[in-house]
Amino acid sequence: NRSMVIDTDTASDDAVAILQAVLHPDIEVRAVTTVAGNVPLPTATRNALVTLELANATDIPVHPGCAGPILRPLETAQHVHGEDGMSGAPLIEPETQPQTEHAVEALIRLGRDEPHRHELVTLGPLTNIAAALLIDPDLLTRFTRVTMMIGAADGRGNVAATGEFNAWADPEAAKIVFHAPGDKRMVGWDASRKYAVITDADECELRATGALGEFICEINRSVRAWGRDVTGIDGYDLPDPLAMAVAIDPSIVVESTRTHVAVSTDESTRGQTFADHRLPPRSPNLTVVTAVDPSALMGQLLSLLTRELAA
Ligand code: BDR
Ligand code: CA
Repeated sequence: NRSMVIDTDTASDDAVAILQAVLHPDIEVRAVTTVAGNVPLPTATRNALVTLELANATDIPVHPGCAGPILRPLETAQHVHGEDGMSGAPLIEPETQPQTEHAVEALIRLGRDEPHRHELVTLGPLTNIAAALLIDPDLLTRFTRVTMMIGAADGRGNVAATGEFNAWADPEAAKIVFHAPGDKRMVGWDASRKYAVITDADECELRATGALGEFICEINRSVRAWGRDVTGIDGYDLPDPLAMAVAIDPSIVVESTRTHVAVSTDESTRGQTFADHRLPPRSPNLTVVTAVDPSALMGQLLSLLTRELAA
């Protein structure tokens, strides 16, 4: 079985990504580490616990991590995901308690104790990973692979003109992680805008699968309303689930490039991710996923929700 560690600022789309991993028959989720981002840290931790409880996966430890970015004040995305990050959907109060071991310590321990055993999927600002790298600079080489929902290959942003939320929220952390050795893969917001849009018809299909499908639609109501009322887009995208879909099944990637990607920490372009095409070429630090099979995310979600995925 594959083993996965998920670092997440758990709000609505993160919760969907957590479900994908937990429901997959070949994947053991070894730990969930939480970070402030979409919502404050305690809310992210609570949302992760709720999601695991609904999926009957309370044996998966949840480690709370950093409560804010390295250098900047925390600016959440509660205006998009709802105050609680879950669209105010009526949810159970989790009975499971979070771990006392800090996320950063847990990440370092998991890498050191079982090198080359776990893959890492990051769904939020990279604060925990960067903090762990300051202690253990080779941390990422001890994970088999790192898949990150971050940035945008086309340099466009969603919270700022050029800033995708996870990169924008803690660009210093992103810089540390981008420079660290390891097999890193970036699935950006450009990809989710193109290949992870959920339509009304998709929602009907998700709801028809049962309680977890209903949960997915209910917790994403705020994002859906934001898309309709603010951005004028019919349907909404699921960035973290697309990154998770790629981590689970890399064969859904249609196009990717090994390249050197930098992240801006300057105010005017904060969080912009851009490929450095200077000659001679700089050594690649990331694989950037630029195209994914457009039917893959919904296909994977429906398979997992109906437990039909071949083992
Ligand atoms: C990213 O920010 C959050 O809104 C989502 O959870 C995702 O991780 C998209 O920019
Ligand atoms: Ca996220």
